[in-house]
Amino acid sequence: MADKHRDPFIVFGAPEIRGEELAEVEDVLRSGWLGTGPRVAQFETDFSKYKGVDADRVAAVNSCTAGLHVSMIAAGLGPGDEVLTTAMTFCATANAIIHAGATPVPVDIDPVTQNIDIGLIRERITERTRAIVPVHFAGRPCDMDAIMALAKEYDLTVIEDCAHAIETQWKGQAAGTFGEFGCFSFYVTKNITTGEGGMVIAKSEADIERIKILALHGMTKDAWHRFGDEGYKHYQVVEAGFKYNMMDLQAALGIHQLRRIETSWLRREQIWNQYQQAFGHLPIERPADADSHMRHAYHLYTIRVDREQAGICRDEFIDAMSRSGIGVGVHYLNLASHPHYQQRFGWRPGDFPIAQETGDRTVSLPLSSKLTDDEVERVIRTTERVLRG
Ligand SMILES: Cc1ncc(COP(=O)(O)O)c(C=O)c1O
Repeated sequence: MADKHRDPFIVFGAPEIRGEELAEVEDVLRSGWLGTGPRVAQFETDFSKYKGVDADRVAAVNSCTAGLHVSMIAAGLGPGDEVLTTAMTFCATANAIIHAGATPVPVDIDPVTQNIDIGLIRERITERTRAIVPVHFAGRPCDMDAIMALAKEYDLTVIEDCAHAIETQWKGQAAGTFGEFGCFSFYVTKNITTGEGGMVIAKSEADIERIKILALHGMTKDAWHRFGDEGYKHYQVVEAGFKYNMMDLQAALGIHQLRRIETSWLRREQIWNQYQQAFGHLPIERPADADSHMRHAYHLYTIRVDREQAGICRDEFIDAMSRSGIGVGVHYLNLASHPHYQQRFGWRPGDFPIAQETGDRTVSLPLSSKLTDDEVERVIRTTERVLRG
């Protein structure tokens, strides 16, 4: 039974939508063109500029999952191939590998950074390993020097899962521009949102051309070009593709979200630092601070709640927060704790002890740029109260 609380519930990861987005969406709705068209093209150009890459090296899609899937196909991955990734990620990372026909091979995480443990990668490499999918967890970059060196040594394709990492940099270089592919998410809770949506950056223009074809049924010309004012054009199907295209209706949000990306990042950084300071005396583990050679995207603020230390377990903490009107999240359970993967690949939670321990204790507090100062205060006060019993 929920406690009565006067303040409205703080929805975890609520997006900040402003008048610009509302006006642009209305324009799209009135324009008669809701599907993939000029706004998607503009969003791609804007995103490429933001990431410092050529416009013909990006492709908008309808989710990061879709982006990962078509990147795997463009990378030539398929049955018999093994793809390394982290045990601490959203199921979409593993599922995209599976849908490409390849086999995901999880690697345990570093307890401090919560990113893939670089020291363990080598022992998971076999003669079938073809690729590695590092995930910049919570917006903190993986050690891309080490990953790119291993990729070179073992001739592996690198597909960066940048779902949390739009603003992330490693030693001044943007996340998603190290590997052959970088895939971004604009899901509702992400740093910028299009409702659902994603973007792929590829090293090669040819890969982006293929991804654009794969993302729209395998057709040579997209619908915008077919029905535009330059006259009808026939298309040809050159392979069996997918329905992964982004709509102008979605891009209308993204264009304005992207313009405010720095302001939103600064606000999340401020909230992140407030939490770090406020929680120093609590019996929990806080996330590691960013190091000077990186830019953290501050996508998630994750704490670890351990019964031995805190007197309550993570799930009791979640219940108490929810009853007090604060929505929280769990990012993530160990991949190997899900029944499908256990049955399919024989993974056991104990194979990845750090991911397992972290997955049992981790909880993410609200970190949206939409949070008001009062709401941040409420999160802090409620966290303190719940943990002090
Ligand atoms: C690490 C990671 N990878 C991939 C995805 C999939 O993103 P999308 O929802 O845009 O498909 C997510 C989404 O939460 C994620 O957190």
